[in-house]
Amino acid sequence: MDLHIGDSKPTDEEKAAVDALLGPPESSWEGAARDEMRAADLRWARGGREARDRRDLLLPGLHAINDRVGWISGGALDYLCRRLTVPPAEAYGVATFYAMFSVRPRPATVLHVCTDLACAASGAAELCAGVEARLGPGSGVSVQRSPCLGLCERAPAALAIKAGDPVRTAVAAPATVGSAVLAGSAPDSADEEPPAVTAVPQAGQDGLVLLTRVGVVDPTSLDDYRAHGGYTALRRAFELGPAGVIREVTDSGLVGRGGAAFPTGRKWQATAAQPDHPHYLVCNADESEPGTFKDRVLMEGDPFALVEAMTIAAYATGAHQGHLYLRGEYPRALRRMEHAITQARARGLLGDDVLGQGYAFDIEIRRGAGAYICGEETALFNSIEGYRGEPRSKPPFPVEKGLFGKPTVENNVETLVNVLPILTMGAPAYA
Ligand SMILES: Cc1cc2nc3c(=O)[nH]c(=O)nc-3n(C[C@H](O)[C@H](O)[C@H](O)COP(=O)(O)O)c2cc1C
Ligand code: FES
Repeated sequence: MDLHIGDSKPTDEEKAAVDALLGPPESSWEGAARDEMRAADLRWARGGREARDRRDLLLPGLHAINDRVGWISGGALDYLCRRLTVPPAEAYGVATFYAMFSVRPRPATVLHVCTDLACAASGAAELCAGVEARLGPGSGVSVQRSPCLGLCERAPAALAIKAGDPVRTAVAAPATVGSAVLAGSAPDSADEEPPAVTAVPQAGQDGLVLLTRVGVVDPTSLDDYRAHGGYTALRRAFELGPAGVIREVTDSGLVGRGGAAFPTGRKWQATAAQPDHPHYLVCNADESEPGTFKDRVLMEGDPFALVEAMTIAAYATGAHQGHLYLRGEYPRALRRMEHAITQARARGLLGDDVLGQGYAFDIEIRRGAGAYICGEETALFNSIEGYRGEPRSKPPFPVEKGLFGKPTVENNVETLVNVLPILTMGAPAYA
């Protein structure tokens, strides 16, 4: 493959951001210091270094640069392309696809102010005008009007993202001009966000199924999750075996909560039956529909439930690798899910031998970067694979050729979390 890399150089900070993700480069071909610019226009060897041919690391790489510096320069893009052997023109096409990235210089802090439905009805226009008047040029903050931030129950909402190491975020919701300006200009001193349970007025009441633990458990504690019934469903799944799990899910009548209401059991059965391997599981947490924040509440309030549910879905469909595609505007859900996955891994609930059952499964988080269309399942595959998040033609359907061209079961967060009560209470009771 010919790669025509430009001659702009990355800064040390940009290189450090990429190297923190990919590891240090080993040869001049990959951007090591010696002979750095000799590799400006060369033929790339295939194989060898781990990062090569990992086009799927392009989106995480763009995030790494954007998080550290606040925008993606030509030199940074070239360096990332060199490391991943991706043609820069294509990477530019990807970088410019997403609203959260900029390929032009901008201040380190971006304040996203939502102007979508719920916020428009709650004074977003006045909020924007007030914030823009206070944070003009020279303030070090770029104010950007944004589609729904998934904080609709606390409209109007604003989200500040301050580039650096580490990147910092702050939410103001419900936002006033003062609280939004504070979040943008000093994210560290912004008011703490109220807990996810404030979105659940019926929290703690008897008879809740999906939300039974939200506001009740400590979302950062695996022990607390287990003390409230966590991992009972996975144990039952191992007793039933993959076919038994699919039977229960089918009998429960569960349909997809991502919008299309497709019967979940049928999708799982179709994936499990595919002779081609590996099979993949993808959890769609791109939730971007204005007025929708259910997946955020589940991930922030009961994150281990999603880890357990993804493990069951993967076990039933024969997958050993799961991807959680999480929209880029959900920093707290990201922190909670990262923590839950790390804890589960440390305690043998993810990894080579889940619950000592000889079944291997792990989860990787992929962050979206501001593109509503990436919630569409095949656009989401393209996004993970490092291409522009444009939908693919169907057929073939994802159960036959999905992520990386392999059989893939993709489900919404809420769909998956429903599998836990199905297994613990049994399909007839759930139905
Ligand atoms: C434009 C568009 C956007 C979508 N956005 C989402 C989304 O944000 N989250 C989601 O779960 N599904 C979304 N979907 C539906 C997915 O394509 C897919 O049907 C769903 O994730 C499958 O999961 P389920 O069977 O559990 O519902 C979207 C579909 C379209 C056409
Ligand atoms: S409409 Fe503004 S956060 Fe959803």
